[in-house]
Amino acid sequence: MKCALITLSVLTALMIAGALLAFSQFNLSAMPMPGNIEIYLATRAKRAFVQRNSHEPIPPAPPNLKVSIEDGDKLYGTECAACHGLGGNNPTDAGRWMYPRAADLTSREVQQYSDREIFWIVKNGIRLSGMPAFGKVESDEHIWDLVHFVRTLPANASPNGAGATH
Ligand code: HEC
Repeated sequence: MKCALITLSVLTALMIAGALLAFSQFNLSAMPMPGNIEIYLATRAKRAFVQRNSHEPIPPAPPNLKVSIEDGDKLYGTECAACHGLGGNNPTDAGRWMYPRAADLTSREVQQYSDREIFWIVKNGIRLSGMPAFGKVESDEHIWDLVHFVRTLPANASPNGAGATH
């Protein structure tokens, strides 16, 4: 019993010391690049949450894909390009220096999301990041337009992320 108490006290002391150390090392600045381990863990957690949270059925897509992409293009210019850049892979200064950085929408990681998942991300945003929720601002139809437009970004993106087609 006594032995268990001592072990417990030592463990608690170690945990408090660890928490204090982590706290003292923590940097609130958004300037440093997120580390590889942090990116790996945050990405895994984000994908798992998006997958779990986006289970609910979403309304059917607008029937005319061409019109929907055109409408999405306009919405993207006013609502998304301010961070992600017009080409999706050329973030503005604000997007580039967010923590986490504004995602490259032409990347395989983003394009791997299903339509339903991208719909969910645009509608709900991503907590603890700069990605806003558009659910109170945009109709479901407009969110679908944005999903359709995001799908066209890789084909139009320039290889080095600069000087996109718009
Ligand atoms: C104020 C800046 C900002 C605006 C405006 C913005 N985003 Fe984002 N977006 C971000 C940031 C930052 C991330 C990265 C979030 C992360 O990695 O957790 C992101 C991530 C994403 C992702 C991918 C999530 C991932 O797993 O990386 C998608 C898709 C996305 N945004 C689409 C959009 C669309 C579409 C719009 C416009 C309707 C938009 N964003 C507007 C900042 C913004």
